[in-house]
Amino acid sequence: MKKKLVVLTGAGMSAESGISTFRDSGGLWEQYPVEEVATPEAFARNPELMLNFYNARRRELLKAKPNEGHKGLADLEKYFDVSIITQNIDNLHERAGSSHVIHLHGELMNARSTGDPSLVYRLSEDNPDIKVGDVCEKGYQLRPDVVWFGEPVPMIEEAIRITRQADIFVIIGTSMVVYPAAGLLNYVPNAVPIYLIDPKDVAMHRRDIHHIRKGASEGVKELKKLLLKDEP
Ligand code: APR
Repeated sequence: MKKKLVVLTGAGMSAESGISTFRDSGGLWEQYPVEEVATPEAFARNPELMLNFYNARRRELLKAKPNEGHKGLADLEKYFDVSIITQNIDNLHERAGSSHVIHLHGELMNARSTGDPSLVYRLSEDNPDIKVGDVCEKGYQLRPDVVWFGEPVPMIEEAIRITRQADIFVIIGTSMVVYPAAGLLNYVPNAVPIYLIDPKDVAMHRRDIHHIRKGASEGVKELKKLLLKDEP
């Protein structure tokens, strides 16, 4: 029976793929005030600005490739039962080959009906934009299938269930300041080893954290060596 390896990832996971983080210098929230491009109120006020903001990020994603960190996590599925819980809306974990990925904040490549949230449509690479006037089969305007500030995080219960079962817990590339994602740390059982991969310090209330002070690509390589050293 393989050990359960649970990995919580954030924007830093995709930084080496050329996708900007949110709170590093030059990050996305420095360029765009979050209340103007990531809240339901902003969407009601100015849907075109919001749709264009996500259209631009989607086009950036189509040019990006999974980095060695994404690939290293996919490779760990040979040795562990790996679950990725990501705050990222990109699809780089899946494109690297990870087979169990939970998107807490939604998926950039999906569009959702504003009138019936159960209607979700996969956007294609050759037509990746959502425009004002694009509607679902019931005639409601489409929106990005992402979680904006103040909106519920439907996948959090599943993420908590998986975190409780972890034998090993890894945090990669997140400043751990946005809840409920950051709160997952509270559900990691006490005896479970926790690894952090981040070039900077991250304020967390648990002391027993093994900090690999590297970027995702080099950090996942070092993590793999550490984890496989303990494996029979
Ligand atoms: N490798 C690993 N970590 C990195 C790298 C890298 N190459 N570069 C930066 N980091 C780290 C930073 O040190 C920081 O701790 O990634 C983290 C990025 O933090 P944020 O920009 O706050 O991103 P994140 O924690 O994912 O934000 C959480 O906030 O805006 C919302 O919904 C959005 O999902 C996002 C959530």
